[in-house]
Amino acid sequence: MKKVGIVGWRGMVGSVLMERMSAQNDFQKFTPVFFTTSQAGHAAPDVGQGASELIDAFDIDTLMEMDILVTCQGGAYTEAVRPKMTERGWDGYWIDAASTLRMDDQSIIVLDPVNLPVIEKAISTGIKNFIGGNCTVSLMLMALGGLFENDWVEWMTSMTYQAASGAGAKNMRELVAQMRTIGDKAAPILDDPASAILDLDRKVTDTLRSDAYPVENWGVPLGASLIPWIDRAMENGQTREEWKGFVETNKILGRSDNPIPIDGQCIRIGAMRCHSQAFTIKLKKDVPLDEINAALAANNDWVRVIPNNKEDSIRELTPAAVTGTLNVPVGRIRKMNIGENFLTAFSVGDQLLWGAAEPLRRILNIIL
Ligand code: HSE
Repeated sequence: MKKVGIVGWRGMVGSVLMERMSAQNDFQKFTPVFFTTSQAGHAAPDVGQGASELIDAFDIDTLMEMDILVTCQGGAYTEAVRPKMTERGWDGYWIDAASTLRMDDQSIIVLDPVNLPVIEKAISTGIKNFIGGNCTVSLMLMALGGLFENDWVEWMTSMTYQAASGAGAKNMRELVAQMRTIGDKAAPILDDPASAILDLDRKVTDTLRSDAYPVENWGVPLGASLIPWIDRAMENGQTREEWKGFVETNKILGRSDNPIPIDGQCIRIGAMRCHSQAFTIKLKKDVPLDEINAALAANNDWVRVIPNNKEDSIRELTPAAVTGTLNVPVGRIRKMNIGENFLTAFSVGDQLLWGAAEPLRRILNIIL
């Protein structure tokens, strides 16, 4: 059996990956070796293959013995370790959640329900780095894969509503702490049925602006507000998250030399782990709506086309409905009154599943 080293399995993405691998009995298909950056020698998790010890994640000699390495340890680890392994002639497969190597010529961004032919070609030509894509990009492609498969998209915009989990575990905790602070401070007014709504509003606003509001991680309020900026600035006024929408989508589709223009605004909102996106899509031709719906639904096993009515939209097209599932609902689909070639749609997806862990789990299975 192949030896698969796993690094960063305790973090948030790593934990979701471990859960999915256990649920799918993946650990029966290879010999897992668990690495650690802080607890070498401690007991490794027992995934049904008996007891073992954690190994130092910077022990290059042992890393070199692996056929495949899967890392959710973050970009700094990738930067520190991958070049050393290359230097020493390691010929294994590197599967990585971090963005560090995504745009490298020697890497493929993996999302097999959408780009299996790109992946297969890369494997046959000796590519060894298989990297999970940006969550917003992967979730957009899972939702709209049918449009790209038919080459109907002339250009598109994606306006995002991104969950706290994209910023990390501490940020998720702080979002809930912010919500609690609002609830605690507002409780006396909220509990008094005779209280005036503007008093309640003033209390919430005062809380958001007070020193009692926890903002150590976000820097500003997110609960009862939003943050119109994700990641660092690029030189053209985009944020890096917005830049990824264009470069990563086209790389995943294998069309970086003939790219589809994609842009938008990426916004953080107070959802826990589901990213949502609203799209404006300029089609190359006037494709009838029933054909569009059929193509979207047929693209992969996880996309769900939601009828464009109030009941289905508010029940099925929300973070509350989708969290913790692999479903990627896409709805609010209609032609825009701007013109027949303009389509709008809205989709939701779990940022930790299809947005992070699931494509890694699946590429591991493909390589095995
Ligand atoms: N950059 C994304 C976010 C998460 O901040 O939501 C990971 O792709």
